[in-house]
Amino acid sequence: MPQEAPASPIGRETPRIDGPLKVTGVAHYASDFHFPGLLYAVPVEATIAKGKITKLDTAAAEKMPGVRAILHRQNIGKISRSTPGKGVSGLCIERRPAFEDDIIRYYGQYVALAVADTFESAQAAAHAVVVSYAKEKPNVEDKLTADDDPNEVMTFYGPVKRLQSERGDAAAAFASAPVKLDQTYVTPVETHVPIELQGTTAMWDGDKLTIYEESQGIMNMRTVLAQMFGLPEENVRVITKFVGSGFGSKLWPWTHCPLAVAAARQLGKPVKLVLSRKMTFQTAGHRARTQQRVRLGATPEGKLVSLQHDYVCHRSILDDYQENCGEATPFHYSTPNLRVHFGWARRNVGATSDMRGPGAVPGLYATESAMNEMADQLKMDPVQFRILNEPKIDEGENIPFSSRHYVECLQSGAEKFGWSKRNPEIGSMKRDGLTIGWGVAGAAWIAARDDAAANVELRDDGTTRVACGVQDIGTGTYTVLALLAADKTGVPVEKVEVVIGDTTLPPGPVSGGSWATASVVPAVFEAADDAVNALFNVAVATPGSPFQNRKPDDLAFEGGRVFVKADGPGGGVPFADLLKRANLRLVSGDGRSEKLFASKEKPKFSLHSYGCHFAEVTWQPEIARLRVNRVVTVIDAGRIINPLAGRNQIEGAVVMGIGMALFEQTHYDPQNGAPITSSMADYVVAVNADVPKLEVHFLDYPDLKLNAVGARGIGEIGLAGIAAAITAATYHATGVRVRELPITIEDLLKSKVLT
Ligand code: MOS
Repeated sequence: MPQEAPASPIGRETPRIDGPLKVTGVAHYASDFHFPGLLYAVPVEATIAKGKITKLDTAAAEKMPGVRAILHRQNIGKISRSTPGKGVSGLCIERRPAFEDDIIRYYGQYVALAVADTFESAQAAAHAVVVSYAKEKPNVEDKLTADDDPNEVMTFYGPVKRLQSERGDAAAAFASAPVKLDQTYVTPVETHVPIELQGTTAMWDGDKLTIYEESQGIMNMRTVLAQMFGLPEENVRVITKFVGSGFGSKLWPWTHCPLAVAAARQLGKPVKLVLSRKMTFQTAGHRARTQQRVRLGATPEGKLVSLQHDYVCHRSILDDYQENCGEATPFHYSTPNLRVHFGWARRNVGATSDMRGPGAVPGLYATESAMNEMADQLKMDPVQFRILNEPKIDEGENIPFSSRHYVECLQSGAEKFGWSKRNPEIGSMKRDGLTIGWGVAGAAWIAARDDAAANVELRDDGTTRVACGVQDIGTGTYTVLALLAADKTGVPVEKVEVVIGDTTLPPGPVSGGSWATASVVPAVFEAADDAVNALFNVAVATPGSPFQNRKPDDLAFEGGRVFVKADGPGGGVPFADLLKRANLRLVSGDGRSEKLFASKEKPKFSLHSYGCHFAEVTWQPEIARLRVNRVVTVIDAGRIINPLAGRNQIEGAVVMGIGMALFEQTHYDPQNGAPITSSMADYVVAVNADVPKLEVHFLDYPDLKLNAVGARGIGEIGLAGIAAAITAATYHATGVRVRELPITIEDLLKSKVLT
């Protein structure tokens, strides 16, 4: 009987395979692990943001019941700094280990660590430590003026020219442009606020260290810890089975992690240290505040002749993370004259860090807002204005796009949203007694691939196992790996075992930059092919096998069955039968992916994902209520491996974008420098009641320049542009132009649009 090879599961809507484990409580997150003799550690936080410790009095705390130690600079032992290696290796945004000196540079900086038998005792002891300071006035000023930095600076990701991109003569072209726009856009400090708090459980066995940590990058974390504690890498094991989201806040190790490790070393017991929500606002990263001046010059017909993007972002006193707002600016629209330039302003704040769509998200908020304002000034439709300025190639790098369908995103989105019914006049559109406003904005996010390795086993019970030292941060990586392995081995998804989140596995990529999926594809495919080759060798060598005495090259594999190439795929023998006949439990194969990101060679193609959002707001002037009422998003992110999880990713990003437009901001107290919106009550994110019907569409053009499946990433692209679409819709409804996020009630009260 001829057998039909089953259709590939890639592209099939697949519920997450880890979902049942999570909803039944079986999934163990990092801080769910308990060990005999476990001690609890609670850091003591600096209550000033600038100054020096003059005295640390631990006497009372040390005498408290259950307290094992109060650790500080004098008794914690040596913690070295880590050195960045090549690519994503040895990276640590806040390079100064806690307690390295007595200087306080930001509020909440750790100054001591209480370790006790219970969490409550440790917390009480931490409160009982008395710290005296020589206090100075911190600088947490909102207004940003660029510091006097050299033209080439060292950033967390390597050397960067402050003049990031330049072509033509942008200033001259702007000066002579018939139509001009010159506006400054501001985004506030945003904090990640993942549901699962950061924390470390560390334990030593002689000179071997194991930690449980909710990490977006276990391999990098292993390297960092090995360097900090002077260990060979193979002596460090990092385990992260499930992550309660991260948004970038768990990409790189924070200072609490080596503290827990050092405490476990000093006390000879496992130590657990979980941050409070307040601490996560102080010491676990945030998106920098940005102030972005955008100057556009255009012809009256709407051709861009000049684009200047000058921005300043804040950073911490010691670290050099750059919020790269100019990432998408050089390529997103065609213009002969362009200049992108950035500056830094140091502030007494914790280290700034990657947050979902780092750089491009605040950057596109500014440039897409400017595009909307320019379209209004030109009295052009903002969709048409964008299409008119569509580039043929990446004009920033002077290379072709790998696969760009931005115009189709805009056209398809406009069609699905009903954009042609738009009356551009402010406050002119009404429905059900409410004023409605419509806005649009474009999106782009880098597509990249990092080094990765994977192992695939074919087993005698007809199952397969795929293993990779990658993480699933809630985005669906478990399921993606299952789908890839199922595709290659013909094993149904439910019979694929996926093992991730452990540094003893073949090294995987970080779950960041939306590149985990693109990175693992080649490794898993190669590993599966390697396992199949091993199977062929078994098939020809096993006595009694139907393929005995054939050459491995004569054989082919499809849908889980081995057959003779010349005979075609009809029939064939299931791999499990061949393994059983050979009395083998399994055959195993290894595969590798090579990075396309930060590699030395100049890229041949400009690799990005694209998209757009169409947003509708409703405006009720009587009570100054603005709501996001509808969002249609179209995303061009290559081939979508799992459209169900993919849509969830974009929906989640749009929800975050509603928060970005309307709610999210971290305020600092100008007196003591504390981030004062440091709870989930005070730091407002969008919740169900704020979220309308979201429509997400994928174009699904495979990008084969990136990998064999043509999949790019979809974690971050959905957050790009959405805030600009909402501010444009708000302007359309209310006549209020908001250029500093989030939109506040005070902004809206300026509206002259009445019901
Ligand atoms: Mo994303 S900010 O690269 O986790």
